[in-house]
Amino acid sequence: MARIIAGIGSSHVPAIGAAIDNGKTEEPYWKRVFSGFVKSQEWMRETKPDVAIIVYNDHASAFSVEMIPTFALGCAAEFPPADEGWGPRPVPVVQGHPALASHIAQSVILDEFDLTICNKMEVDHGMTVPMNLLFGNVDKNAHWPCPVVPLAVNVVMYPPPTGHRCFMLGRAIKKAVESYPEDLKVVIFGTGGLSHQISGPRAGLINSKWDKAFLDNLSKDPQKLVKIPHVDYMREAGAEGIEMVMWLIMRGALDDKVDEVYRFYTVPASNTAVGHIILANRSRTARRRAPAHKAGKRAAAGKAKAPARRAAARAKATIIRG
Ligand SMILES: [Fe+2]
Repeated sequence: MARIIAGIGSSHVPAIGAAIDNGKTEEPYWKRVFSGFVKSQEWMRETKPDVAIIVYNDHASAFSVEMIPTFALGCAAEFPPADEGWGPRPVPVVQGHPALASHIAQSVILDEFDLTICNKMEVDHGMTVPMNLLFGNVDKNAHWPCPVVPLAVNVVMYPPPTGHRCFMLGRAIKKAVESYPEDLKVVIFGTGGLSHQISGPRAGLINSKWDKAFLDNLSKDPQKLVKIPHVDYMREAGAEGIEMVMWLIMRGALDDKVDEVYRFYTVPASNTAVGHIILANRSRTARRRAPAHKAGKRAAAGKAKAPARRAAARAKATIIRG
């Protein structure tokens, strides 16, 4: 049986992709951002997921004002990087998982979530930047470490889906994955945000207090977040802050109780707050199959020696910057 073992929230700031592609990751401005993902990449290498479901939004690359699906699931065998105006990013073609994606489509649609099925789709920075942040820089002629099931969400044109709808779709995805017969270790990404506004009189808006509360509730009390109306995202997190509803799909696909493995927050990157969180399911199967943070498990069982307990405390500690 397949199982979602963890959820990852990550901003997908396009300038981060440009910094990678133009060799600027060691410059002080960008090093501050990339240093926050070093532990996450270690966690990902240790976890070795079989598949990643990545919830992201298209930025008028695969879709346009002519066609705006609210939820679009990628069922293709591969997803080439889109040309976003200066050529496709020099990253590998994203390999899909058509069998799992088709299973999710069937299960979720029969659960009354009317997804658009995409058998051909290019993907933009909304997906490839979080992949870089979590998987590292991968040569465009190599392969990403695991196949991906993309789920594109409309947060560009009004009306985007509500936070509650997103959370419930996450629930349906969880059910779908758990009814897939193959033994797969799955992680799910929610991407976008955090607070930012890229145009208008409030361009450059960043609300760190709001962002921190969002991350806290995502970890401990997501039901508070599902009630937030669109207008509050607009007021508090800026016009583009609505991207944060995509994190609720990720959270809905996890167990009610999760362990916060890691958190990182910094401002600014471009004109955006960068947020990142890793939440791990506590369920027995997930714990048995997830190799990360062995020190934490030993500490929880009361078997750890003092240095291991300190290591576990460090691993659990949240890192907030900015
Ligand atoms: Fe975006």
